[in-house]
Amino acid sequence: MTEIRTLISAEEIANALARMGAEITEKYRGKDLLLVGVLRGAFVVMADLARHIDLPVEFDFMAVSSYGASTQTSGVVRILKDLDEEIAGRDVLIVEDIIDSGLTLNYLIKSLRVRRPASLGIASLLVKEGIQRVELEIDHVGFHIGPEFVVGYGLDYAGRYRNLPYVGVIDSLEDL
Ligand code: IMP
Ligand code: MG
Repeated sequence: MTEIRTLISAEEIANALARMGAEITEKYRGKDLLLVGVLRGAFVVMADLARHIDLPVEFDFMAVSSYGASTQTSGVVRILKDLDEEIAGRDVLIVEDIIDSGLTLNYLIKSLRVRRPASLGIASLLVKEGIQRVELEIDHVGFHIGPEFVVGYGLDYAGRYRNLPYVGVIDSLEDL
C-alpha cells in the first residue's frame, strides 16, 4: 500500500494562499499584472492563489520539463511551451508549486528577463530548504519545507497525486 502522510493540510494551504494573495494585491495595485504559471504542477496553486488577488490580472502559462519520472533533479530544463503573451513593459509574476534546486526557475528567469518586463517576481507555494543551488530572491512564499519529496496540490510523483487537496509525503512506494 502507498501511504501518504499529510505534511501541510488543505486548510493551512488555503490560509497561506490567502496571505500571499493579499501581499500580491497590495504590491501590484495600479499595475498591469500578468501571472505566469509553470506547468504542469502550478495549475492548482495558480487557480487558488489568483482567486485571492483582488486586481484585474491576466494569465499565461509556460511548460518546462525538469525531472522526468524520477525524484532527482537533472539540472536539464527544456521549454516545452512558451508564453502566448508579450511581456515587454509588463509586471510579471511567476507562480510555482515548489522550488527545489532552483535550476528550473533560474533558467526561466533568464529567458524572461531578456524580454524586458517592467518587473519579474516569483511566488511559490513551497520552497525546499537547504538545497538551493542558485541564489533566488523569492518574493512570496507559502511554506519552507525540509528536503523530503512531496506530492499533492499540483505536485506529482510519476504523474500521479496532483489532485490531492493537501501536500503529503509518500512513506512507502510499494505500489509504484
Ligand atoms: P528545481 O529545478 O530543482 O527547483 O525543481 C523544480 C521542479 O521540480 C518543480 O517545479 C517540480 O516540478 C519538481 N519538484 C521538485 N521537488 C519536488 C517534490 O518534492 N515533489 C514533486 N515535484 C518536485
Ligand atoms: Mg513545477
